[in-house]
Amino acid sequence: MIPSIVSPLHEGKVITIRNLKYVYEGGVTALVEVSLDFKRGEYAAIVGGNGSGKTTLAKTLNGLLRPTSGQVLIEERDASQMTVAELAKTVGYAFQNPDHQLFCSSVEEEIRFGPQNLGYPEDEVRKNVDRAVEAMALGKLRAVAPLSLRLGERRRVSIASVIAMNPEVLILDEPSTGLDNEETEELMAKLKVLNDEGKTIILITHDMRLVADHAKRVIVLSQGRVLLDSDPRGAFSDLDLLRQSNLQPPAVTQLAHRLVERGIPKDIISPQELVFQVLRAGGIK
Ligand SMILES: Nc1ncnc2c1ncn2[C@@H]1O[C@H](COP(=O)(O)OP(=O)(O)OP(=O)(O)O)[C@@H](O)[C@H]1O
Ligand SMILES: [Mg+2]
Repeated sequence: MIPSIVSPLHEGKVITIRNLKYVYEGGVTALVEVSLDFKRGEYAAIVGGNGSGKTTLAKTLNGLLRPTSGQVLIEERDASQMTVAELAKTVGYAFQNPDHQLFCSSVEEEIRFGPQNLGYPEDEVRKNVDRAVEAMALGKLRAVAPLSLRLGERRRVSIASVIAMNPEVLILDEPSTGLDNEETEELMAKLKVLNDEGKTIILITHDMRLVADHAKRVIVLSQGRVLLDSDPRGAFSDLDLLRQSNLQPPAVTQLAHRLVERGIPKDIISPQELVFQVLRAGGIK
């Protein structure tokens, strides 16, 4: 067997994207020239207005769409040379609309399908399914038909069926849609555990509060291009850029921007920071 040699250029990178372009049949250019890297264990958010290319980008990373031009490397391998099954072992994608993903007659079967289909041995399938069921709190719903569940529950089933394949990278496309605040926070807590265990998390969302609270990196897409790639603090201090991308910073950041003249920094991203800065400035009169 040929030993695998990791080029120092790609060390630590789980995804490398170079000059990626995607044009849909019919001529819509969804991605213009995207170049990005994701390191193993990162927690990144991809944000951008409707139609900015977020879902298209996610789908090119796990082989659901093949780039028109440019290159995607997954753990140093050219994604164009990998099968969808090989890609699914490394990059898991939970669909924006869970109903596009769910098709089995029970939650258990749905979550089993991925690891079984990837040929994992039965004991590993069972272990992965149990872990995914536990992570998404679906224990009581194992026997239920996915399509009879509420949207928030269907979303959790779709995420569990991705977790069950045990991919290195989890891409979640608008995971908070259909979830109430409590369900969203529970989901975020589970994602944090997976991230702490070393998984790479890529969160696609319109919800800037989620980004501020959880992501360590923000990639802003606009009309198929990367407009900004920074930490959340940097991203939220640039209101013009966010407006240009049809994005609203979190309410607490907007409030801080209105208090700049009173000595409050505009890169506030949490209520705790705002309270601290207000107290430091001697209160707001
Ligand atoms: N199947 C398709 N066929 C043709 N054009 C498409 C298709 N899917 C998306 N597009 C177009 O590609 C562009 C990018 O769409 P994409 O779904 O990637 O954006 P998005 O950032 O995920 O948007 P949203 O926030 O609404 O989910 C848009 O102009 C969209 O209309
Ligand atoms: Mg989308």
